[in-house]
Amino acid sequence: MTQPFRNLFFLLFLLPLMGQGQGREKPLREVAPFTLGTTLEMNSFARPEVVAIYRREFHRITCGNSMKIKGSQPTADTFDFTMADSIVNDALRHGQLVHGHTLIWGKSLPDWLVNFQGDSVAWEQIMKTRIQTVMRHFKGRIHSWDVVNEAFNDDGTMRTVVKKKGQKENLWCQKLGPDFVARCFQYAREADPDALLFYNDYGQEYSEAKNKAILRMISSFRKRGIPIDGIGLQLHTSLDRPDALILKGIRAMASTGLLVHISELDVSVKKQLDEGMDPAAAAKAQAAKYETIVKYMKSLPEKQQFGITLWGVTDADTWLKNDTPLLWDAHNHKKQAWYGFYRGLLQKP
Ligand code: G3I
Repeated sequence: MTQPFRNLFFLLFLLPLMGQGQGREKPLREVAPFTLGTTLEMNSFARPEVVAIYRREFHRITCGNSMKIKGSQPTADTFDFTMADSIVNDALRHGQLVHGHTLIWGKSLPDWLVNFQGDSVAWEQIMKTRIQTVMRHFKGRIHSWDVVNEAFNDDGTMRTVVKKKGQKENLWCQKLGPDFVARCFQYAREADPDALLFYNDYGQEYSEAKNKAILRMISSFRKRGIPIDGIGLQLHTSLDRPDALILKGIRAMASTGLLVHISELDVSVKKQLDEGMDPAAAAKAQAAKYETIVKYMKSLPEKQQFGITLWGVTDADTWLKNDTPLLWDAHNHKKQAWYGFYRGLLQKP
């Protein structure tokens, strides 16, 4: 074979077979039938390679921390949106959407709130003012919100106070009673009637009791005319979580007819690696898990597919210690996980 022919042969036949054709794939957002998001924080801007990835690959960003109470409300009467505004405005300048996270959550509370001594009327006022001030500030810029985050224990009871193993504290519920969730949604709709309102939680893929509790809450909202548009399944998952359970959790949430957002996706591999699993096998299994989850989202009725949000861009961003649960490695290279996610987007459900 002469040199020019050899070069042509290499380009046409051999190159596509090497490394899954790496480097020629389209960005995820160009092949996704639903919106794709990731988290972003101010310190990401110091890493141009990461910024390039999220602008190229994702439709939407979620502030990982800066919209939480701790990150945006230094006292009962003062709000500080400096960080959140910078992130939101940057996203909008680059044609991206923003998902608001999170208005009311029992965690990440500042000391002034934990130590607040007011009665239930005063607590209600804090809750309402917070929801409405934040939503009105971002009105027209943020079109979807996690209104309430993680109100239920895994056993399906509401988080109130630590009682027994597995049950968690939630000051809002302690001070205001279990129906605080419904009122949050009413306050949110009042503040911005155009925004999509989500209830966000984790564990739908392993806790039947929590699923039932969420479904009961949605059905009670329906009966009482409480507004809600969607449910977020965080899906901080891992290799050993059976696919069938993940599908069951997603379908349970979809059975409400509401929008479904896989809102904080990551796939942990730490346990398996610690137990001696071959890293190559773990990477392959992680890719397969991502592929499957994407396909599950695609299998829902189209109008309910709000989208998928990854909880971080690279493994350097993850909240999980000593883990590598995301689509890019800590050196900003696409992992097999990325290719699994991509395959899931391309395949028929
Ligand atoms: O910014 C401060 C820094 O100034 C300080 O030096 C450092 C010392 O610990 O703390 C930094 O703040 C930390 C912040 O993350 C930013 O890194 C907080 O302590 C830490 O509590 C906070 O953790 C976040 C956690 O939520 C609690 O808010 C994680 O980054 C964030 O990924 C995680 O996200 C949650 C979702 O909101 C809800 N679902 C579960 C998910 C994972 O826990």
